[in-house]
Amino acid sequence: MAASSTSASSGSRNEEGDTDGISWRLIGAASELANKRCRLMYSSLGYNSDVCLFYVKGEFFAMDARCAHSGGPLCEGDIEEADGVLQVICPWHDYDFDLRTGRSGTSLQQQVYEVKVEDGNVYVKHASRLSLLPFPAEKKN
Ligand code: FES
Repeated sequence: MAASSTSASSGSRNEEGDTDGISWRLIGAASELANKRCRLMYSSLGYNSDVCLFYVKGEFFAMDARCAHSGGPLCEGDIEEADGVLQVICPWHDYDFDLRTGRSGTSLQQQVYEVKVEDGNVYVKHASRLSLLPFPAEKKN
């Protein structure tokens, strides 16, 4: 009954564009987000659509949070630089993913997203709402 209106009415509209389709999603103040190397951003579409926001060498990068291999937590991976390419190393099986392109030395491809900083705020282009806090669980009845 109220489930369909929950997502539309809860919280403030803190992103540009609508909630359907791809648009720039406001994440937060760049000065604050730059304090951590990686933050997990929860997707309104659920666990498999969560996104990592990395801050490495003065630049933000966004990619799917679960490794394309077997779902490892990329936010917990080490960051390495090889031949000028910044990579996150998956903590589960050590696959590497280019932070900029999502390409791996293996044949795997991790989905990456555009990031922009505007007026001191970080935005990620994504198909769902993204939040630094988990979205409330939807009621089943
Ligand atoms: S789950 Fe990431 S390398 Fe296997």
